[in-house]
Amino acid sequence: MTRLYPVPARVSEGSPSKIASMDDWRQQWLAAKDNPDGFWLDQTKARLAWTTEPSQGLSGDFHNIAEQQVAWFADGTLNVTESCLDQHLATRGDKVAILWEGDEPGTTRTLTYAQLHAEVCKAADALRAMGVQKGERVIIYMGMVPEAAIAMLACARIGAVHSVVFGGFSAEALRDRIRDCAAEVIITQDQGLRGGRTIPLKATCDEACVGERHVRRVLVYQHTGAPVAWLPERDVWWHDAVKDASADLAAVTCAAEDPLFVLYTSGSTGRPKGLVHTCAGYMTWASYTHETVFDLREDDIYACVADVGWITGHTYIVYGPLCNGATTLMFESTPLYPDAGRYWDMVERHKVSIFYTAPTAIRALAAQGDDFVTRYDRSSLRVLGTVGEPINPEAWEWYYDVVGEKGCNIVDTWWQTETGGIAITPIAPATPTKPGSATLPNPAIVPTLLDDNALPIVGPGEGRLCLAQPWPGMARTVWGDHERYVATYFSTFPGYYFTGDGCRRDADGYHFITGRVDDVLNVSGHRMGTAEFEAVLISVEAIAEAGVVGFPHPIKGQGVYAYVVLQPGADPGADLMKAANAACREQIGAHARIDVVQVVPGLPKTRSGKVMRRILRKVAEGMPEALGDVSTLADPTVVEAIVAGAVRV
Ligand code: WT7
Repeated sequence: MTRLYPVPARVSEGSPSKIASMDDWRQQWLAAKDNPDGFWLDQTKARLAWTTEPSQGLSGDFHNIAEQQVAWFADGTLNVTESCLDQHLATRGDKVAILWEGDEPGTTRTLTYAQLHAEVCKAADALRAMGVQKGERVIIYMGMVPEAAIAMLACARIGAVHSVVFGGFSAEALRDRIRDCAAEVIITQDQGLRGGRTIPLKATCDEACVGERHVRRVLVYQHTGAPVAWLPERDVWWHDAVKDASADLAAVTCAAEDPLFVLYTSGSTGRPKGLVHTCAGYMTWASYTHETVFDLREDDIYACVADVGWITGHTYIVYGPLCNGATTLMFESTPLYPDAGRYWDMVERHKVSIFYTAPTAIRALAAQGDDFVTRYDRSSLRVLGTVGEPINPEAWEWYYDVVGEKGCNIVDTWWQTETGGIAITPIAPATPTKPGSATLPNPAIVPTLLDDNALPIVGPGEGRLCLAQPWPGMARTVWGDHERYVATYFSTFPGYYFTGDGCRRDADGYHFITGRVDDVLNVSGHRMGTAEFEAVLISVEAIAEAGVVGFPHPIKGQGVYAYVVLQPGADPGADLMKAANAACREQIGAHARIDVVQVVPGLPKTRSGKVMRRILRKVAEGMPEALGDVSTLADPTVVEAIVAGAVRV
């Protein structure tokens, strides 16, 4: 039995939240389930600045999703930047909206709500002057500078659809995304900075654009001042473009279901999917979950140390906190720069009260010892969040005991790019926690565990995690490919949204996410498809075939294990791993690294030619005795060779 941790007094006392107890949670969860329209119409009207208030709640359902997209508040109109900026000007104009901490400790910048509003208007006016139209896609390829958030909001201000591409992605990955959403304008910066190193964002962008004649403008924010190559007919400096722009630009009115952004994420096939989030439902969900889960208070200094290139950065650095009028910290550096004390140094200097990071960072920091934590004053902290991958109980306890000094509640928030915002989670002032458990669903989330026969499990058990009802923040479709959206999420278990995760539920109804049950890897919180790695590997000259699986890794959560079959006559040599990782860096990005390469005579395939990944996984996990039935293999002898040559990790 996992111990139940009560909510510490520092968290529960004086909570302004409408969900400050388990009774409140139960009541709201039931209200949202029984009367979703009424519940969410009330929420959205209270949170967003509507131009025309909606009269409709939900339309569509999971049974009919191939024919009709789910929609929320469909007859309302708004511009989301009025919810994030304009609605705060009268009451919070001088409050800090963005608190930026640069790569070097103590390099800071602040933007008040009034200043942010002006900067967003100017950037929006600049985009408008470049001819960017409502509905047009704009790629944002930047590091963690305030201008990345300004760029997102500037697109939203004119109704353009942004697609942020993480600054670690390679030119090839960037080009795929530019093409997929047919973007004509890209916003980038000269260089990024991270951990004392520069990242050549403009140069990579230039490389991605070679031959892409439809890219007509590249807007470049100058950050480090390093010289960059320049195409005068295409490239525009940000500072030139905003110089004479309007600091008070009227927002373009959008329909509730107009797309707000496209964000690409990996699945079990080689090609990333552009998930589409729409204006009003997403914003309502971002605002509601950000306020309730973290128990946001007016004076909080809220720090989510993710990157805006991922959904966490979209929802919990930019849209949720700004809609709620919070002070949101943007962090350019890494948890280990200049040393493992960086987060806590920042917590002390900025008096951070809510802190949100990933298990991989927690594990990496715990491995460096407690001194890096305890030398800083962390008494401002009240809520500690984690997201991105399952957190092991040891890391959870270190976060709770050492970082939070047993005075903070830990919110282990389970969600996905597809869910738009937090789905299963403790509510900071209300939910007693258990190490390793994301606990209970948010209102609107109806988790269902399906067994091997696709039947719902009642009570405790373990199965595939599905969600049974639509929620406002769900992605509505895949950009340009609704069929793929339906096939990926709604065809495995008709009538349900299938998350791709496994989950155990205990007798208290608490959820423990066990990890992906599809061919998706989660390495340091980065989601990558095994098929993406395999496609890269077979592009390496010496490699004929490849099978990639994950294995448990003490810091990264999962490591990447590649089985490769060489081309006839190819010499494996010591350079194979180097060549493989160079190809990963070039075709995916610096965050995609293979940990182990094992050369095998063949992959274990069924007679119909399907690779039996189960076998590859067991060997990589160091459990070859648990291989199970291999009699259906076309050539059972390859298994012996695979086991004999297995690399111990
Ligand atoms: C996958 C989604 C959600 C923003 C960051 C990742 C895993 C996420 C947890 C958690 C266990 C988690 C799941 C999920 N995941 N949060 N608290 N406990 N697993 O978004 O890149 O779309 O990845 O991350 O496997 O399916 P993403």
